Amino acid sequence: MNNGKTINPTIIVIFGATGDLAKRKLFPAFQNLFLDGRLPEKFQIIALGRAEKTQEEFSSYVIENLNNFSRKPADSDSNTEKFISHITYLRHDIDKEESYRELDSKLNSIDQGFGVRSNRLFYLSIAPSFISTISVYMKKIGLTANVKQDRIIIEKPFGYDKTSAIELNEMLSQTFKEEQIYRIDHYLGKETVQNILAFRFGNSMFEPLWSRNFIDFVQITVAEEVGVEERGGFYEGVGALKDMIQNHLLQILCMTAMEAPASLAADDIRNRKADVLKSIRRIKPEEVEHYTVRGQYDAGFIKDKPVPGYRQDKGIAPDSTTETYVAMKIYLDNWRWQGVPFYLRTGKRMQEKQSSIIIQFKPVPHSTFTYGSEGMTPNRLIINIQPAMDIKLQFMTKKQGLSLALRPAEMVFDYFACSTMSPEAYETLLSDALAGDPTLFMRWDQVEQAWDAIDTIQQVWKNNAPTDFPNYKAGSWGPEAADELLARQGHAWVDNTSHVVNEKIEKK
Ligand code: BG6
Repeated sequence: MNNGKTINPTIIVIFGATGDLAKRKLFPAFQNLFLDGRLPEKFQIIALGRAEKTQEEFSSYVIENLNNFSRKPADSDSNTEKFISHITYLRHDIDKEESYRELDSKLNSIDQGFGVRSNRLFYLSIAPSFISTISVYMKKIGLTANVKQDRIIIEKPFGYDKTSAIELNEMLSQTFKEEQIYRIDHYLGKETVQNILAFRFGNSMFEPLWSRNFIDFVQITVAEEVGVEERGGFYEGVGALKDMIQNHLLQILCMTAMEAPASLAADDIRNRKADVLKSIRRIKPEEVEHYTVRGQYDAGFIKDKPVPGYRQDKGIAPDSTTETYVAMKIYLDNWRWQGVPFYLRTGKRMQEKQSSIIIQFKPVPHSTFTYGSEGMTPNRLIINIQPAMDIKLQFMTKKQGLSLALRPAEMVFDYFACSTMSPEAYETLLSDALAGDPTLFMRWDQVEQAWDAIDTIQQVWKNNAPTDFPNYKAGSWGPEAADELLARQGHAWVDNTSHVVNEKIEKK
């Protein structure tokens, strides 16, 4: 992590500063970085929005949102006031050159005040359709002319398939060099996701087991309890494959399966991740049904509370065919992982919010023991990403008593037990972007490979509308077909609701 004091004076420009992401994530993250002394001594945030707002109106809007969304809400002493005094609201019309000229003179006058040409960080927190216009004007006015000092952060989705992503990238490359483009995937900023690297390559005892020789299969789950909330307009036509698998889940897959990097330099790490994406076995159109399952939630109950089906949610077509759930089986064609299935699943309105990686080891070759009522449980390493943040090692142990019978047990490393409040993903990522460290951002070839890995699936799905939607109840673990996907191979989704495992142990 960088120390903000060593960073040049910086101007942060947020396009879409009155939007949802800015209010929930960006301002809280900048505020926390400020409070932790991780912003440069001289910095200014320029908040751009379409609405006519006075500076006072915008400041109270930011304070209200800090209270609602920040892990350190606005305080009554002067710290929040100090932070707010660094923010200037500027009305901006994305398609008017004049607005960019005004922005340019604002940037120049701040530089004059700082007495240096500041670093510039532009955050494009806007719909993808505006990226092109913004980038053309930025080039025309020369807002990001200094390659070493000026950066832009771009949110996902980066394109909507491989072809559109290539077009977008080519368009961006007319204004920016690759080293200036920070493609954000907020999962990479999560503490527990970063810890996968530390855990794998900071220890010697797991690595020898980390391959086809000892691992039976890997499961990566990102389950959400929420539905599409207010984002129906965005989510319709996007769906879980593009919203979650193409980015967050494939990135977790990379961290789990990558080879050790030569160093912690950004490109060394990103090279190893790109290798994983390249090694994903591309499936043929006729195999899509065999390797994937899609689903859409129906009305149901989450924690005993009734919730509507996807088609009844705001902004959703009554006959929508957008998938809110995906399960898929991936093979990596390389030496380490040949033949090991990686099962990925993600869904909205699932029984429980849970993101985890489960490494299931091969069964013992032969056993002479008798087991308790649970039978023999395979050895598992469970990395819980959120909301539980822990690592569990599950193994068999002797049941107390006179006979030599076995029962399952687990050892747990719990983040909450030993850490102070972890930074939010956006804090880590923004702090890295300010310091010019692109390690946790997606390089172009990673994005391209990720699209390449799922393009066939989305084409086949597009050409064959689902006939069974909605096919899972809100509050369940997804469609039955997702169980069959694993059952065909003699596998099953591991029940990772921690209370179940603990209960089993307590019963003894
Ligand atoms: C976003 C997706 O990228 O990630 C959302 O667009 C999803 O649909 C969200 O809800 C999940 O993020 P987190 O950090 O809450 O797990």
